[in-house]
Amino acid sequence: MKRRPIGFALLLWAGMTSLAYGQAAQTPLRGDAEAGRQTALRGCATCHTVPGGPAAATDTAPTFLGIARNPQRNRADVTAWLMEPHMPMPNFQLTVREIADLAAYIDSLRGTP
Ligand code: HEC
Repeated sequence: MKRRPIGFALLLWAGMTSLAYGQAAQTPLRGDAEAGRQTALRGCATCHTVPGGPAAATDTAPTFLGIARNPQRNRADVTAWLMEPHMPMPNFQLTVREIADLAAYIDSLRGTP
């Protein structure tokens, strides 16, 4: 009888954590396009032109509009790209949220004429 509450609490805890992990795995962060635009202006605009922002100082990197319009690229590719360090892109150490925001931002440009 005495052990029962602990067993129940453990069961409840296990259920709740697996639920939390399950949700994290199933629902990727939506991403906030406007926050992504701000991050892009702050950290990416020297190389990638942000529409409405200053022209990039170099033309070695594709513009974000170009990436968004590239039929070979989708939001998942952009997310995956940003998860890994790429030369010559500095290793930004972006957070998962920043990555989701940036991917949402680039995705939001897709329909831009
Ligand atoms: C120092 C310059 C530089 C900065 C800063 C930079 N990038 Fe890049 N990025 C590049 C270059 C150059 C490429 C092209 C590399 C290649 O094609 O191998 C690239 C490629 C990419 C690609 C893949 C494009 C494609 O479809 O092939 C994405 C997505 C990207 N950058 C996003 C970002 C984001 C988001 C930021 C800001 C957090 C950022 N970059 C900051 C230089 C930069």
